[in-house]
Amino acid sequence: MSQRKSRIIVKNPYRPILTKIESITVENEAKDLKTFRLVFCNDEEANGFQYQCGQFGELTVFGVGECPIGIASSPMDKGMLVFTVKRYPDGLVTNALHNCCVGDRIGVRGPLGNSFPMDQMQGKNVVIIGGGFAFTTLRSTIRYILHDANRAKYGDLTLVYGARSPGELLYKDELKEWEASNDIQTHITVDKGDESWTGKVGFVPAVLEEVAPSPKDAIVLLCGPPIMLKYTLPVLTKLGFGPGEIITSLEMRMKCGIGLCGRCNIGSKYVCRDGPVFTYEQLQALPAEM
Ligand SMILES: Cc1cc2nc3c(=O)[nH]c(=O)nc-3n(C[C@H](O)[C@H](O)[C@H](O)COP(=O)(O)OP(=O)(O)OC[C@H]3O[C@@H](n4cnc5c(N)ncnc54)[C@H](O)[C@@H]3O)c2cc1C
Ligand code: FES
Repeated sequence: MSQRKSRIIVKNPYRPILTKIESITVENEAKDLKTFRLVFCNDEEANGFQYQCGQFGELTVFGVGECPIGIASSPMDKGMLVFTVKRYPDGLVTNALHNCCVGDRIGVRGPLGNSFPMDQMQGKNVVIIGGGFAFTTLRSTIRYILHDANRAKYGDLTLVYGARSPGELLYKDELKEWEASNDIQTHITVDKGDESWTGKVGFVPAVLEEVAPSPKDAIVLLCGPPIMLKYTLPVLTKLGFGPGEIITSLEMRMKCGIGLCGRCNIGSKYVCRDGPVFTYEQLQALPAEM
């Protein structure tokens, strides 16, 4: 009698999942921001990659290395993943990623980290404030809320998003769609306009003060460069938002991404495992080393 041996599959958290680059979009005039749309090479692994808004993946360029990048696609986008990557002039992995072509294979480890509390946010008004290229996981969240299956679960959706110049705005086609939609109140601004720009000119904190979203039954998701966060927080406080209602995502240097190497800790918290998403109330309780 033949006996079938049972195969024990142990998931190795360091093993990247194989994906293929389906498309690459150059997002900005400076050409240092590219969006990669990846498709899974294996259906089983595609089904196993169940992620939430706010999570990240470690992108692997084989033979070069890996780096953490926020997932810009929405969990409602099935069968593919989107990542938007800024190339650092001296960045090992981000340069290698920018040199990749459509059809190339790259690895993804994940999904990693915690996520925005999408369940707790149900029934609330959601204010999304983004600046620069830290907009990636906020894009995931907006797509998630705007999906037909989800829109009725959330209250008003307000977006304040800014970039240095019109050419630096991410996801330009999608921004136009959102501006035309009644399902989201979109306020796009640039620090400095150009001859073609007819929209708002001004920094995100000033535009936020002008828009003045109500703190009643509302949650804020805030991601951007440190200078923007520094000047936006007092405006939110003035509008009446408490630190428990303001949620952000930290982009700290990381290595393993799974709470094992100790490279990303702030006090007792590992940003890769306990974060990257924290409320300002949680951040206030951490040591000042961040
Ligand atoms: C949770 C998380 C989500 C992220 N999401 C995105 C994203 O969606 N898109 C994106 O473009 N980037 C994102 N980042 C930042 C990204 O991980 C870094 O840009 C990347 O690791 C740089 O890798 P590299 O090998 O090219 O650079 P390296 O060769 O490691 O370093 C090159 C230069 O960049 C600096 N640098 C590298 N990483 C950081 C960092 N985290 N903070 C400050 N300076 C740094 C180094 O000091 C050095 O000067 C995210 C980071 C984290 C932790
Ligand atoms: S990156 Fe290794 S513990 Fe967080």
